[in-house]
Amino acid sequence: MAQAERKVVSFMLNGEPVEAAVPVTRYLVDVIREDLSMMGTKRACDQGVCGTCSVIMDGKLVSSCLTLAVRAEGAEITTIEGIGSMEEGLHPLQDSFAKHGATQCGYCTPGMIVSAYALLNENSDPTEEEIKHWLTGNLCRCTGYQKIVDAIRAVAEGRTEPGPDLGTVIVKAYENEPGAAK
Ligand code: FES
Ligand code: FES
Repeated sequence: MAQAERKVVSFMLNGEPVEAAVPVTRYLVDVIREDLSMMGTKRACDQGVCGTCSVIMDGKLVSSCLTLAVRAEGAEITTIEGIGSMEEGLHPLQDSFAKHGATQCGYCTPGMIVSAYALLNENSDPTEEEIKHWLTGNLCRCTGYQKIVDAIRAVAEGRTEPGPDLGTVIVKAYENEPGAAK
């Protein structure tokens, strides 16, 4: 079988310039996770329906499992690592998810937070209904969603300050737990 043509793609990933030579058929999620070793972004359905692979590209929420990597040429991409981290400090959304118990297995959590981040950039004070509508593209098999909605509302209302060590729970859930990180 003929190999796919390769192209060099250059873009900004969480504020840092990156470059990779990729087959033109390769998807952005694979480049982020496998070529650039940013494992926070997850993949599950591979069909654009679960939201685990959500990233922000030039200000818009996209499913990286449906986005060809070559389309990222010149773009600014933000993943969960660019929103907040243990090293750089957690974003209030990450802290709020931990405080509200809005993460259990953690697999959906990076995508949920990236999606919520994009929502709050567009609408800083969404209603509960608006949050639920926005999150229809993000599936969670564990939490029942209400705690996720509560966590986002709390940030919109400014009720979340950087917490004690609760934030470590969420970061470990999506970065370190066996089975959740890969
Ligand atoms: S893996 Fe991309 S939407 Fe499910
Ligand atoms: S916390 Fe397990 S899928 Fe959402």
